Amino acid sequence: MHIQIDNFSMYYEMMGSGIPVLLIHGYPLNHAMWAAQISALAEHARIIAPDLRGHGDSQPAAAPMGDPKTYSMDLHAGDCASLLDALGITEPVVVAGLSMGGYIAFSFLRRYPQRVAGLILAATRPGSDTPEAKTNRQQAIEAARQSGIEAVVEAMLPKMLAPITYENRPQIVEKVAAIIRKTSLEAVVGDQRGMMERPDSTPLLPEIHVPALLIHGADDQIIKPDEMENMQAAIPTSWLHILQDAGHLVNLEQPEKFNGAVRNFLAKLA
Ligand code: MLT
Repeated sequence: MHIQIDNFSMYYEMMGSGIPVLLIHGYPLNHAMWAAQISALAEHARIIAPDLRGHGDSQPAAAPMGDPKTYSMDLHAGDCASLLDALGITEPVVVAGLSMGGYIAFSFLRRYPQRVAGLILAATRPGSDTPEAKTNRQQAIEAARQSGIEAVVEAMLPKMLAPITYENRPQIVEKVAAIIRKTSLEAVVGDQRGMMERPDSTPLLPEIHVPALLIHGADDQIIKPDEMENMQAAIPTSWLHILQDAGHLVNLEQPEKFNGAVRNFLAKLA
């Protein structure tokens, strides 16, 4: 379904009833990365899974304030809040984000603390970019500008999955490649610039008082397990699940275990 949000038409999927769970996808992806969660978790909650601006079936649109080419984490978080407003969802929601979706979840929590009933943070980190990470993002922007989305597929795909998945599960590899190919160049550039500028959310962690479920793949090549362990230690109300045979896209590589952890978490919240 599409809905007009500020200056663009946003695509989202919504299914089920009960406590609202907002699923925020990572970079350079869209709601389809949550396909194995949307229908399975809709038996327990009202699942809302948007495509962020410029991703999947959501239109690319310049940021209306600040640098128009930068999709800041605050901009994406504001779009998610506008979506909830447009859907008439005023009660607190569970905010779930994977990787960049997690960076956006931190921004959502900072901006709208009263709208958050719980957090699910998958394969993400609270810290901001190192100088080296910023340089890598600048190079990724240049490569995408020169060679288009295939440069992004080539650079990201092998890192996003566990080596065991990449080598043995071609259907997953193809599915992720197809998802990446639906990302606009505006979003590739905008997200990279937004992530480059994101603030350090580490000081926020001890202030988190809502229940927080942390899920990580043991073979994640982008976020190391100790980053998630340190985050778990810093959030007083959190639990960490590390899933074997899963990389960065832990929800897609181990959907049953991932969904099981989320179901238990939602039962605790209820
Ligand atoms: C993601 O999966 O969202 C990105 O890899 C996060 C990042 O580039 O920091």
